Amino acid sequence: MNAEQVLIFDTTLRDGEQSPGVALTVAEKVEIAHQLERLGVDFIEAGFPVSSASDFEAVREISSQIAGSHVAALARCEEADLEAAIRALEPARSPRLHVFIATSPVHMKAKLNLDPESVLARIDRYIRAARASVADVEFSAEDATRSDPAFLVEVAQVAAGAGARTINLPDTVGYAMSEEYARLIAHVKSHLPDDVILSVHCHDDLGLAVANSLAGVKAGARQVEVAVNGIGERAGNAALEEVAMAIAARADHWGLSHRVNLSEIYRTSRLVSERTGMMVQANKAIVGNNAFRHESGIHQDGMLKDPKTYEFLDAHAIGQGSHLVLGKHSGRHALRDRLERMGISYTAEHLRQMQRHIKVMAEGKRAIDDQELYGIWQQVAQQADGEQYGL
Ligand code: KIV
Ligand code: ZN
Repeated sequence: MNAEQVLIFDTTLRDGEQSPGVALTVAEKVEIAHQLERLGVDFIEAGFPVSSASDFEAVREISSQIAGSHVAALARCEEADLEAAIRALEPARSPRLHVFIATSPVHMKAKLNLDPESVLARIDRYIRAARASVADVEFSAEDATRSDPAFLVEVAQVAAGAGARTINLPDTVGYAMSEEYARLIAHVKSHLPDDVILSVHCHDDLGLAVANSLAGVKAGARQVEVAVNGIGERAGNAALEEVAMAIAARADHWGLSHRVNLSEIYRTSRLVSERTGMMVQANKAIVGNNAFRHESGIHQDGMLKDPKTYEFLDAHAIGQGSHLVLGKHSGRHALRDRLERMGISYTAEHLRQMQRHIKVMAEGKRAIDDQELYGIWQQVAQQADGEQYGL
């Protein structure tokens, strides 16, 4: 692999589907998988086959239909999990088995009732079993950021020794601060052979999922686990569109690349939002409705003179257009621009009157759309014509 490339591992259909209230049908998952393939993600985590018949079927169907991305399936260190994941991945051209077990004291004691030695033994046993059927095995140390770092090194070494070529250190509960996470990634990486790829998987409980993922990349991770629109357990996962754009738009800073086709980002976001029923908040970075809209007069004036004044990201590059909003804060320049785009001729007086109407209408209300603007123009023009002819 090119050392400068970051692999994008999409978990929209697995961790994303674990969002409270979301239940995708098999057909919807297959439709989203095709869009993720067009988007150019390296891995599509299609589901957790042992968890339900429909998850099993979705992984199997996606495995048989997707050729442009690797297809991954999740399994705990349990016989039944491994068996279901291996069977579901059978039709895949390029399968990945993603095996995990928790490694933090609280998870090992309260959830698994296993001591650290038994956890290490399970990792060794189940990764070897996974490797007997699937060449590409990823191991995740669940709750890595609340695990003892020395134990985590042992865990990673056992996993690598048993054949895992990718080792993921998830911030399962969104606990880590960016510097801490970077330190942990660098520490574990320094104890592993160079050909083992470290992966980051961050949850957004403190709103740090993207920042932490990028900090992990800075520290040497070369796979990032993300979900479209940042959906996932609780507060969600790191948002695919934010990670992909940060790496692409600030390539000068990162010196890294990925395979994501930016022009498919907006379409993918819409599809996931529609199929999951999870609305994207208006001010969400990159894909929110307001992410490329400008309302204040000063900003609109700048945008009309040179879009680089207030937009360093290219809205068109991700398949979303930029807009000047007509509302309570907008100015004359944006109004003129909109009227010209709509092919409406106007006088200076029309403009003055229309601005007055827009301010009144927009007070305490959303932005003015083209139809409403046309109505305002008609009213103003008729009134001006009437005055001109003494009516
Ligand atoms: O958050 C997490 O720890 C996970 C693992 C199963 C990778 O989703
Ligand atoms: Zn997760």
